[in-house]
Amino acid sequence: MSNAQPRKLFVTTALPYANGAFHIGHIMEYIQADIWVRFQRMVGNEVHFVGADDAHGTPIMIAAEKAGITPQEFVANIAAGRKQYLDGFHISFDNWHSTDSPENTELSQAIYKRLRDTGLIVTRVVERFFDPVKGMFLADRNIKGECPKCGAKDQYGDNCEVCGAAYEPTELKNPYSALTGATPVLKPSEQYFFKLSDQRCIEFLQEWLNSPSRLQPEMVNKVSEWLGNEGKDLADWDISRDAPYFGIPIPDAPGKYFYVWLDAPVGYLASLKNYCGKKGIDYDALLNNPATEQIHFIGKDIVSFHLLFWPTMLKFSEHPIIDKLKINVHGHLTVNGEKMSKSRGTGISPLRYLEIGMNPEWLRYYIAFKLNAKVEDIDFNAEDFIAKINSDLIGKYVNIASRAAGFITKRFGGQLSDAVSGEAAMSWKLRFAEQEAVIREAYEAREFGKAIRQIMSLADEVNQYVDTKKPWELAKDPANNQELQDVCSNLLRSFYSLTIFLAPILPSLARKVASLFKMERDLTWADLQTNPSAIGTFEHLMTRVDAKMLDALFEVPEAPAAQAAPAANAATNAAAEPLAPEIKIDDFAKIDLRIAQIVNCEHVEGSDKLLRLTLNVGEGRMRNVFSGIKSAYKPEDLIGKLTVLVANLAPRKMKFGISEGMVLAASAADEKTNPGIYILNPWPGAEPGMRIR
Ligand code: MSP
Ligand code: ZN
Repeated sequence: MSNAQPRKLFVTTALPYANGAFHIGHIMEYIQADIWVRFQRMVGNEVHFVGADDAHGTPIMIAAEKAGITPQEFVANIAAGRKQYLDGFHISFDNWHSTDSPENTELSQAIYKRLRDTGLIVTRVVERFFDPVKGMFLADRNIKGECPKCGAKDQYGDNCEVCGAAYEPTELKNPYSALTGATPVLKPSEQYFFKLSDQRCIEFLQEWLNSPSRLQPEMVNKVSEWLGNEGKDLADWDISRDAPYFGIPIPDAPGKYFYVWLDAPVGYLASLKNYCGKKGIDYDALLNNPATEQIHFIGKDIVSFHLLFWPTMLKFSEHPIIDKLKINVHGHLTVNGEKMSKSRGTGISPLRYLEIGMNPEWLRYYIAFKLNAKVEDIDFNAEDFIAKINSDLIGKYVNIASRAAGFITKRFGGQLSDAVSGEAAMSWKLRFAEQEAVIREAYEAREFGKAIRQIMSLADEVNQYVDTKKPWELAKDPANNQELQDVCSNLLRSFYSLTIFLAPILPSLARKVASLFKMERDLTWADLQTNPSAIGTFEHLMTRVDAKMLDALFEVPEAPAAQAAPAANAATNAAAEPLAPEIKIDDFAKIDLRIAQIVNCEHVEGSDKLLRLTLNVGEGRMRNVFSGIKSAYKPEDLIGKLTVLVANLAPRKMKFGISEGMVLAASAADEKTNPGIYILNPWPGAEPGMRIR
């Protein structure tokens, strides 16, 4: 069953931009990869599962500048917020690193030098977009316009989210600066290009495509399209950016930095190398080992970078990993049929999901059920979600244990009987053995929906057995004791096997079940061969989804009171608002005011008053605070800024989630005199977590 020779799998997910918190699309990608990784670990393969923040580039540089902190500090704050999501959804990365790291600088520069030495780097003076208002060259992401290929509006300067085309910003139709709205002007600048149009690159890509196990068929087609016309349509790739830029310096090119997409995929290797260093694993030996495979999980919007540039970079820098490269592309997650926007995410906030007490394994199960190996979008639909969890997961699977465990503990001291007796029991024991290979192959092929359907059809058979044997009837007459014990033992053993099958998807539940069977460790695929003989105390395994939770997840709120505005009075100007009654210093000391950094800020779906703030108050975790300041601030203008938080205010449950404190703001007593809301901003030097006294 388990492979003779364990595979060595180096698995990654796309490195998220470090300019905001995770949204539910990121979580979907991590769940997909994590299920695959956990399955591989269960069958005995060696897995190194790493991620990292994609730290470089202009958007982060600008956000940090606005916040008055360094880009490094900005990225560190974002990174500090990652753990609660990853732990919360049971994502089992072995390492989390950053592209802004010594490893990445070294590896990126080394790859670049080798490319240069093979003659694949050329320089050319080109016209680049320059923002005349801001006085700087514009990054691709700061230029928007219409896609030159499909005409879609409001596309970024590097690639089109609608048709997936990659292009240069100067190819956009009707370009404008996303920073100032100004029409950019062209200015000459010397740029470094990677010669993708070189005959060697084209020949390599054509050959690379013809090793189908590396790519899904749809992706082979996509790359063939790009390579059509004998590769004449392939343009050279501009890999340099002018200072000021937050990135890695190009060797021997003062004032020039690698474009973020040059060093971003190298970040996969940097994270692996960092991890190897921590674990005492020989990084070079791992890369050179013929048994090593490198598997990237990515979304459909970033395929050109991973299917054209990345393999070619690896090939011509003679990197050993090129022969081991596989790319698994997934579609996007939509929510109730709605596509999510990059900046706002969707109606589902991953943290809110957790905060309202929804079980992360429900989402893992639901996403797994929806996933296959194709590049198809999948939809989160609230009603469907409830049905899948309550009828399938709980109704068909979890209930098997609750039906049988009580009798075994109460009547038989937790002992299972030896024999698997009765015809029905024998037949589904066989069916389990038969289906094992099907389920294993489905996991391997990332056909998780198929795996679940197979597992649930086994559960159906077990449930038919319950209905025929009716243990609750047997229990009425002590003469049936032996049969009752046999039936319940069969049920528990089948439950045990089903649990192993589901363990990659439901790791925490599987751990509880293992401990029910007195195995205080994670289950492995090989445990299908061991027959448990006893159970310990049965603890409740999983609750049903309450539809109210979904309401809470999506609820459109009543118009909330603007939190910052004090009661209006008749005063005609702000200064005229009467003072509140006198207090003593002790009264003031009860209020714990802290410097908070706005690490992320986003609109709240359905609210015209609130913004959702993610605040770093120096506590090693992030706080979620809603603030009625939407009329006064754009989320992107607040990200990175420092402000003042009432930090010891009792958490308040709002329609959108829990607000953990209140951001202070000034406003006029009568909003007719001045409708503005003004949040506080400390003088430079204040740090998140400092108390205001
Ligand atoms: N920083 C780049 C990736 C560099 S990889 C060397 C980037 N970051 S991202 O934060 O925008 O996206 C990270 C991943 O999330 C990508 O694989 C992207 O496809 C995925 N998703 C973004 N929106 C998504 C959905 N709605 N659904 C599923 N995955 C989504 O791109
Ligand atoms: Zn397009």
